[in-house]
Amino acid sequence: MKFTKPAPKNPIDNQTVMGKPTPRIDGPLKTTGQATYAYEWKDVVENPAYGWIIGSSIANGRIKSMKLDAAKSAPGVIDILTYKNAGIKHKGDNSSAQQIAGPKVEHYHQAVAMVIAESFEEARAAAELVEISYTKSKGKYVLEDTLSSAKKTDQQKDVSVGDFASAYESAPVKLDVTYKTSRHSHAMMEPHATIANWEDNKVTVWTANQMINWSKTSLAKVLGVSKEDVRLVSPFIGGGFGGKLFILSDASLAAAGARLTKRPVKVTLQRALIFNNTAHRASTIQNMRLGANENGELTAVAHKNWSSALPEGGPESGVLTTGPSYKTPNMLLETRLSVTNLPPVSAMRAPGDMPGSIAIEVAMDEMAEKLKLDPIEFRLLNDTQTNPETGKPFSRRKLAECLQQGAEKFGWSDRSSVPAQKREGSKLIGMGVASAVRGGPASKSAARVQLTTDNKLIVETDMTDIGTGSYTILAQTAAEMMGLPLSDVDVRLGDSNFPAAAGSGGQWGATSSTSGVYVACVNLRKKITDQLGLNADTATFENGNVTESGKSTSLSSIVKSGPIEAEGEIDFSGRGDDHSYYTFGAHFVEVEVDIYTAETRIRRMLAVCDSGRIFNPVSARSQVIGGMTMGAGAALMEELHVDPRYGHLANHDLAQYEVPVHMDIPHQEVFFLEGEDPLASPTKGSGVGELGICGVSAAIGNAIYNATGVRVREFPITMEKLLNEMPVEV
Ligand code: MOS
Repeated sequence: MKFTKPAPKNPIDNQTVMGKPTPRIDGPLKTTGQATYAYEWKDVVENPAYGWIIGSSIANGRIKSMKLDAAKSAPGVIDILTYKNAGIKHKGDNSSAQQIAGPKVEHYHQAVAMVIAESFEEARAAAELVEISYTKSKGKYVLEDTLSSAKKTDQQKDVSVGDFASAYESAPVKLDVTYKTSRHSHAMMEPHATIANWEDNKVTVWTANQMINWSKTSLAKVLGVSKEDVRLVSPFIGGGFGGKLFILSDASLAAAGARLTKRPVKVTLQRALIFNNTAHRASTIQNMRLGANENGELTAVAHKNWSSALPEGGPESGVLTTGPSYKTPNMLLETRLSVTNLPPVSAMRAPGDMPGSIAIEVAMDEMAEKLKLDPIEFRLLNDTQTNPETGKPFSRRKLAECLQQGAEKFGWSDRSSVPAQKREGSKLIGMGVASAVRGGPASKSAARVQLTTDNKLIVETDMTDIGTGSYTILAQTAAEMMGLPLSDVDVRLGDSNFPAAAGSGGQWGATSSTSGVYVACVNLRKKITDQLGLNADTATFENGNVTESGKSTSLSSIVKSGPIEAEGEIDFSGRGDDHSYYTFGAHFVEVEVDIYTAETRIRRMLAVCDSGRIFNPVSARSQVIGGMTMGAGAALMEELHVDPRYGHLANHDLAQYEVPVHMDIPHQEVFFLEGEDPLASPTKGSGVGELGICGVSAAIGNAIYNATGVRVREFPITMEKLLNEMPVEV
């Protein structure tokens, strides 16, 4: 079904199951240890061998020689995979480095070999005996040192609206500031892991992957086989955040190793390898120039973003979020990309938008102060229903309502507009706000539904659930469409044998995959009404019956003669090009900063979000609080440190890469606005998984400024950046 016009009234609007707060249906499996993650599959293969991946100890250069004999004759060793025998034909889609190095080495901890042995311990022990010598080349590792060679990129083209230069020149109130954001690690709980098995020249990988259909295509290229000969199975994923969008060394080397040894091979990346072997969010430097008239209306907005990547990598560009944010007749958005020889950079939760929201939303706070306006008033003054970047109306934009309701609920009126005024003992108290603006994309998604003879409704799609709640919202969709209780629906995900779904990425999963299931159910309803000689448009499906003109037939009687099945696909290629699709929110934060140590503690966080219909307030809330937690990490502690001598990310484990723990995060409140967005999709809502992180770090930075009067423009805002500037005599 092509989605070309606003969704009409449809069974999803009944909201008897859809839209209701619903605990996740896969929860019991997870809390009782019955949900099987990639490395845990037991009975799917017999007698697996174990792979241990060795990462390069240089960042840039060539492999000079590899001495493998000692390792090969170590106990239990079956073989050793290197670039010479791996048969790897392609680096994989969206990869900026080869899956296995050789002879060229592109980054630190790039896989150089994998020891395959009878046991995990034997593989690990033998890896110590592998001797690899390298010829090192000089590399570039520091973004700041590469700016003079930074170039424009087709992946994020510059945008110019009106005439920024002259508008800025003549603006009576101006701001010109530069922010820095750090490198972030996805740091998901479940490490990257894969079991690979070949049978009849076809490979199956049980892996942890967000995008089954993309990754099936990609793995086929890596292995030099046809797409039909690759199957991915990934029903449960212990977090992804973008780190599992693409095929990585665990899947590639497990599959290549299994082909080499003719044995199933299990591989997990050890935690300390993940940070440099896989991908991370790039650091950014972002210059913001804002011009406004005396009334506080923005007349000129420029955002220039620098980031770096390997030669084939892409930008982390904050300008993405600035384009649609605030009304301005003159705008200039520029993205510059330079080359560093650090490990690959890639998408991480709200790629571009998240660091971009730090720049634009802190700049808005700074500009509000210059204009002597309340930061919320300033944002409301520059709100718009038309995307200033494209001139198209938004399908739905309730940013003003999010800000206003949030201010009310949070008690914004208690904030002192002058910083460093509120003190309790040794703590300075402050409040901050920021808008959240994040695209609401949608992408092709298919599903198959079957009513079985034992009165179950089976839903099959290769959609993934990375902890987001996909299982539950898809069950709700199918239950609502077929008029059945949630408990009758059995959702099966994450298998490339199922119809191809949109996958989990870019916060497009919820709207796309629910719409795919919607279409499959429309087709199933049609099959049933055709069989009964009813009119599909007027028949209703409720309480296990199909009813028309007062005549009801139970679905259970219809399947007596056999199961009924239908497939369907939603195609968004025709989704109104005349609108801009975004989601919006407002984040509020109260912090306390210790006057002696500059230690910052978050006291309260509150978000009001809007993305049209919320399919399940329970899982949507959990998405937003997850985003708020990651935003707190990026504001206060998360930072991958580059060692410029060796070209690696130095703090490559969870002891040294700090993420927030319970003690760092207070009670979080999340509210959603009521309403639907029929322009977005047949199910009339968009995802919130990436919206939840946008603006959070800025709101925290703004709260720290309000508490202390110290403006730190380099994130994370760690104690040493604040300490010498603290306003209070001690
Ligand atoms: Mo998202 S960074 O596209 O998983």
